[in-house]
Amino acid sequence: MRTEEITGRKIVQLDEKSIKIGWSAPSNIALIKYWGKRANQLPDNGSMSITLENSSTTTYLFIRKKEKSDGEIGMKYYFHGTLNQKFGKKIDLLLSHLVTEMPFLYDYKLAFHSENNFPHGAGIASSASSMAAAALCLVTLEQIVTKRKRSKTEFFRRASVIARQGSGSAARSIYGGIVTWGTVASLEGTSDQYATPFPLHELSRLKQARDIILIVNAKEKQVSSSLGHAMMAAHPYREGRKNQATNNLSELIKAISEDNYHLVAKIAENEALSLHALLMTSSSGTILLQPNTLQIIEEIKKFRESTGLDLFFTIDAGPNVHLIYFEDQREMVLQFVKEKLIRYCENEHWIDDKIGLGPKLLTPELEF
Ligand code: DP6
Repeated sequence: MRTEEITGRKIVQLDEKSIKIGWSAPSNIALIKYWGKRANQLPDNGSMSITLENSSTTTYLFIRKKEKSDGEIGMKYYFHGTLNQKFGKKIDLLLSHLVTEMPFLYDYKLAFHSENNFPHGAGIASSASSMAAAALCLVTLEQIVTKRKRSKTEFFRRASVIARQGSGSAARSIYGGIVTWGTVASLEGTSDQYATPFPLHELSRLKQARDIILIVNAKEKQVSSSLGHAMMAAHPYREGRKNQATNNLSELIKAISEDNYHLVAKIAENEALSLHALLMTSSSGTILLQPNTLQIIEEIKKFRESTGLDLFFTIDAGPNVHLIYFEDQREMVLQFVKEKLIRYCENEHWIDDKIGLGPKLLTPELEF
């Protein structure tokens, strides 16, 4: 691959036959949960998440031009060096949707090589970070092939649209900080199609947010998120859930702008418990919370009551608990985790994370 300096910008030339594009993209934890969707991966409700710093996926996309375009998409997806059929199928599906707008996909052989930097089988969902990293690689490839210049804003927006089509929550992993996805009347520029960074005021406490992920069970859950979303379609509480999430999101936005973190805690915990209530009351009667999850919740509530701290828990579609707290509470919280919570974690396993800056380009020679 040859790069050429043109007025200070590097343009990648496709005259040689192979390209390597690398991105790392973070995981995120939702405070307002995306649960339920319509056709084309559009969400039933707006959601809001914290982008994490330490839990991320690194993906390199290797592209080689075919001798002759054969009307087929040639793609392989490797995870930690091994061909991964399960995630590969998700990427295949995504590419089959994208090929009408990216016909050049027929002209290349694609190989994704992906690794997570969080421990394998840690119980952290990796589809958001993996799909976000893949989407960023694909939009970078699109820029190179079509020689189309996009502003940074347009580039990341396009990546968010594509990530969403692969996995809804991945739309939010395209940005750092606090991120919303879904049209919110009070937030300019928001859309069901893509996520948007949420503006925090300069001294916002959320900039100091940290996340301790308490691993109650690292096994893959019995019900995938996709199935959970599907069960919402005929859920008796579907309309109620949409209203609840919409109200919770607007209340949360207000609470954040007023620095009312006791209210932030209340809303975030209501969202986590509502998600599980919806799972339990769906046709499958799915229970993902485990006895130790409930013990941890109880301990966190007791600790908050006795200290008056504005920390809180949230939980995704699994048994593991995210303890969200703030930098200035770190010492107390670490002691609390060691004394009261570690005993409920599988093999005493927990992960130390915090609010993060968002994806990183790993092949900086590629201007995007
Ligand atoms: C509970 O994004 O994993 O984590 O769009 O079907 O891939 P698909 O689902 P996914 O759903 C995530 C659901 C959640 C809540 C959230 O992250 O907002």
